[in-house]
Amino acid sequence: MIKKIILYSLFSLFIFSSIYFFLNKDYYQNTTVQKIENQEALPGGHFKLIKQDGTVFDSEISNKLMLIYFGFTYCPDVCPTTLIKMADVIDRLGDDALEVNSIFISVDPERDNVEIINDYVSAFHNQIIGLTGNKEQISNVAKDWGVYYQKEFIDGSAEYTVNHLDIIFLANANGEFIDFFPPKIQSALIVEKVRNLIKSD
Ligand code: NI
Repeated sequence: MIKKIILYSLFSLFIFSSIYFFLNKDYYQNTTVQKIENQEALPGGHFKLIKQDGTVFDSEISNKLMLIYFGFTYCPDVCPTTLIKMADVIDRLGDDALEVNSIFISVDPERDNVEIINDYVSAFHNQIIGLTGNKEQISNVAKDWGVYYQKEFIDGSAEYTVNHLDIIFLANANGEFIDFFPPKIQSALIVEKVRNLIKSD
């Protein structure tokens, strides 16, 4: 009987913490989207981080349009889905893809070193630029772009996941925000927006 009660309590706890976790996640996502839509706090800014080949990537020097996504390589679902979409956008853009830097920035700098980032992004597309840095660099670029990310430990173990914003940003060559794409957007729409920008240049 006691065993049953304990099991039941643990189960309820699990359910409630899961609900809390998901509501919280949506809350952050929605607040960020709302802020952008109300133009309260437009994200943006140049960044200098470490590329998957170990060299420095400086968005100011590379001077191209940018598609930017913040995530981490151990991400179980949203990051792979987004990178598949990013790869699809690059393929659909064809030669126009050369006018755009498609960028994945890690919000898990502790685990995502250069080799891990390299293995990860190259599995999706050889034109995706994977970036990492030290904790401070990542925290600064995330702050500039209004990106929340939060380590969540799994069952009190040393294992963790990173709860993070799930939006693709579109920026101009000056590192200024132009638009953002929510998770469910179709690649064709992203391609259209990017092409219009290239034409208007
Ligand atoms: Ni992710």
